[in-house]
Amino acid sequence: MRRSRRADTSALKSDDFHRDTQEAPVTATATPTAPRLEVRNLVRRFDGKRVVDDVSLSIAPGHVTCLLGPSGCGKSTTLRMIAGVDLQDEGQILVDGNLICDTVFRVPPERRSIGLMFQDFALFPHLTVGRNVAFGLSGSKHEQRERVVELLDRVGLLHFIDEYPHQLSGGEQQRVALARALAPKPRVMLMDEPFSGLDNRLRDGIRDETLALLKEEGTSVLLVTHEPEEAMRMADEIALMRDGRIVQRGAPYNIYNAPADREAVAFFSDVNVLQGTVKGALVDTPFGQFLTPGQPDGARVDIVFRPQHVGIDFDRAGRGPNPTPMQGAPARGLVERARFMGSESLVEFRMDYEDVVLKATVPNVFLPKPGTPMWLTVRRDRCFIFPVVG
Ligand SMILES: Nc1ncnc2c1ncn2[C@@H]1O[C@H](COP(=O)(O)OP(=O)(O)O)[C@@H](O)[C@H]1O
Ligand SMILES: [Mg+2]
Repeated sequence: MRRSRRADTSALKSDDFHRDTQEAPVTATATPTAPRLEVRNLVRRFDGKRVVDDVSLSIAPGHVTCLLGPSGCGKSTTLRMIAGVDLQDEGQILVDGNLICDTVFRVPPERRSIGLMFQDFALFPHLTVGRNVAFGLSGSKHEQRERVVELLDRVGLLHFIDEYPHQLSGGEQQRVALARALAPKPRVMLMDEPFSGLDNRLRDGIRDETLALLKEEGTSVLLVTHEPEEAMRMADEIALMRDGRIVQRGAPYNIYNAPADREAVAFFSDVNVLQGTVKGALVDTPFGQFLTPGQPDGARVDIVFRPQHVGIDFDRAGRGPNPTPMQGAPARGLVERARFMGSESLVEFRMDYEDVVLKATVPNVFLPKPGTPMWLTVRRDRCFIFPVVG
């Protein structure tokens, strides 16, 4: 067990994660320690509903933050307010410590030094690749040309400089769009599901290339995605969003290994859940007792663990492996279904105990017949215990 939780998970408000940023006064001058982008208590209502509900975020210079959450949770709306194409009902947006937008003061979008890249990254069809990239640039023709050549060379498309967008593949157009967005050296890049229009085969390569270029340019990035793998791959920090709120912020490793609640575990992988009732700071499960410090008698708790942390063993004359402190007691189940997933197999078991179904992943090919009796153990250090909400 990693840690226990307070019974009231609604207390996991953004305040708990952003207290540090709440107290700094809004200043008119940049401070050396200011985050590159800071968003404070942003609220946006549509038809009386708080679609963005008290969102606070900050991104250090050169860092990539992924705003990760299911479709409809308010990610794009958040990005649109930061870009300046929508106006918040409450809250402030600052770049390098300078206020760029609150409910009375508003710097227009084109003067925010914020670059944009969306899924339908429309290039101008009537302009050459070179002119597309030069579009937002100021300075002399010579300076503009130098920057265009630098970026197109960097993304490996210099030979297309005089071609038109329709002559390029989807992946190439994507790289031109990235070059165009980066050309004016924006302080912040906002990217809204920029890779979702690309086919799977291209996507990983383009993600890695994009990340390398963003890091070289030193731009701070807020990247919106609903795909956990994409966020894990790209982010220095993940901000997990649900129903308009940020429920957790942290490095990918921390979000994955110290999730805020049951839904946060389930957003990243399949999960197993056992429910139990606390008695004397303990809860009984088929895998023995778990400690639930701080939970009152009678409280219902979920014990949540991922299929990769379930160990399996064949039944040896009705006996499983000996209990260990790490794995607890083994529990018996019958194979219900086994599927080959590529790099691993996913096996579902109907447990003897209370008719619970648990999933286990096993590397490579492991496809036991339905009805095969087996013993399961769980990695206790990889179990999360959360109070049942509601
Ligand atoms: N202009 C609008 N008018 C009314 N509702 C909107 C508007 N824009 C977004 N919404 C609603 O706000 C919610 C969040 O939308 P959005 O920010 O696009 O979510 P996401 O990008 O996370 O998928 C959705 O329920 C959506 O229908
Ligand atoms: Mg969206």
